[in-house]
Amino acid sequence: MPRQSRGALLSTLQLDANSRAPLYRQLEDAIRRIVIDGELPTGARLPASRQLAEDLGVSRLTVKNAYEQLVTEQFLETRPGAGTFVGRISATELAPAVELSSVPARKSLSLSQRANRISQSRSVLRLGGTKPFRPGVPALDQFPSSIWASTHSKVLRHSGTDNLGYGPPGGLLELKQAIANHVQDHRGVRVDPLQIIITAGAQQAFVLIAFTLLNPGDRVWFEDPGHIAGRDAMHLFGADVKSVQIDNEGFDINQAVASYPDPQLIFLTPSHQHPLGITMSLERRMQIIDYAKSHNCWIVEDDYDSEFRYQGRALPAMQCMDNQGQILYVGSFSKTLFPGLRLGYLIAPPVMVEAFSVAQTLMSQNVSPVLQKTLARFIDDGAYNAHIRKMRSLYSHRLDIMHNSLSKHCNDLFHFTKTDAGMHLVAWLRDRKLSDQPVCESIWDAGIDCLPVSMYCDKASIDQGIMLGFSCAPEHEIENLIMRMDRVVRGLL
Ligand SMILES: Cc1ncc(COP(=O)(O)O)c(C=O)c1O
Repeated sequence: MPRQSRGALLSTLQLDANSRAPLYRQLEDAIRRIVIDGELPTGARLPASRQLAEDLGVSRLTVKNAYEQLVTEQFLETRPGAGTFVGRISATELAPAVELSSVPARKSLSLSQRANRISQSRSVLRLGGTKPFRPGVPALDQFPSSIWASTHSKVLRHSGTDNLGYGPPGGLLELKQAIANHVQDHRGVRVDPLQIIITAGAQQAFVLIAFTLLNPGDRVWFEDPGHIAGRDAMHLFGADVKSVQIDNEGFDINQAVASYPDPQLIFLTPSHQHPLGITMSLERRMQIIDYAKSHNCWIVEDDYDSEFRYQGRALPAMQCMDNQGQILYVGSFSKTLFPGLRLGYLIAPPVMVEAFSVAQTLMSQNVSPVLQKTLARFIDDGAYNAHIRKMRSLYSHRLDIMHNSLSKHCNDLFHFTKTDAGMHLVAWLRDRKLSDQPVCESIWDAGIDCLPVSMYCDKASIDQGIMLGFSCAPEHEIENLIMRMDRVVRGLL
């Protein structure tokens, strides 16, 4: 006996003539749902197609189509001369329906330890904005979209089907060669293109490193304050992440040695410490490399925005000083082009390349070969360097305007030094009673997208400051935005 009377059944089968889904599809979905939810048990008889069509005010063909599909799926079965019945896979034998939101609470479906660590990484969700003053976001409106589009279309038109497959593990040789030339010219890094793995941004490189090189419980020394998503990736794979303070020469290796046992890996942003902006001294670099040599540990050199230096020449990458193959150099196109491109690279010692390439294939396959090829052409044609040069001069100008506006309007609220690199500066709150998080929340309400320095701290207790991205703020708006921010902060005093 059906648990539902025909009237009740009809009331559940509400069809919407204005829906984009055809009526037979709606009917099919509704009956399937009723069966899955156990409202109609195995063997329950469905109304004859003519009867149901009449009751629902639809054509008989609509009902027949729905029934036929459900018979094919075995939710229903027909018995010649007898009618249509709920099939033997009826949900009366299935477990009762549960609310999806209660799934993690059920013992039999408990989450992994890794999933629990994921839930501690919520702060990364705030990292995706693009409004003015958002730190680290390039001038997206300046991206040469038409050059990119024509390069992309040439790649599609002229390379046949070559790039429509998965592509070679670790990436296209053509792009590796272009990157090898770029890092040699810009960062002094001499590298065989075969040492490069093309990744979906720097973040995938961090994940690959953690996945491939770390056992649960391995120690990682990490900058504090430091790059949240990098730190969380290490934590996610079970590393015991130890926070190391930053002094005026960068990562304080002396504090690390005094506080913690030896690590398996050290994570650094030596050319422009994230988020404080300090350039690591040469002496400190040598000290860390010596330590890594004598203690056999890896160094990750995250060189995320080194193309943007406004005064003097940058120190070459630390990777140039590594003669033991212990530095894993990571670069990104998120700052020089745009973050939505999701392209970056990992330069690894030759013995590690295959492991990283296989790991990448297992995790996510390659980055799109069409995109890789487009980028390779874009670099080889000179468009990449031209764009970097143009952005360097634009950002330097925007930095001047931001710095002058802060000096003019907010000197009594913040102290700040003019950075000579990167895409943001830090304005430190003079009033010790203010905390940077609520200050930023009030500034966000005014349509300005700065970030609190405290967000990047693990254990570090440093002054309260806000990070102001100058690269994505149009020149003519910067002073007004600073004045607006100034009013908001004064209102909090
Ligand atoms: C310190 C640091 N490293 C690397 C990156 C680049 O990450 P991705 O290439 O995954 O966009 C960022 C992005 O904000 C960053 O802040």
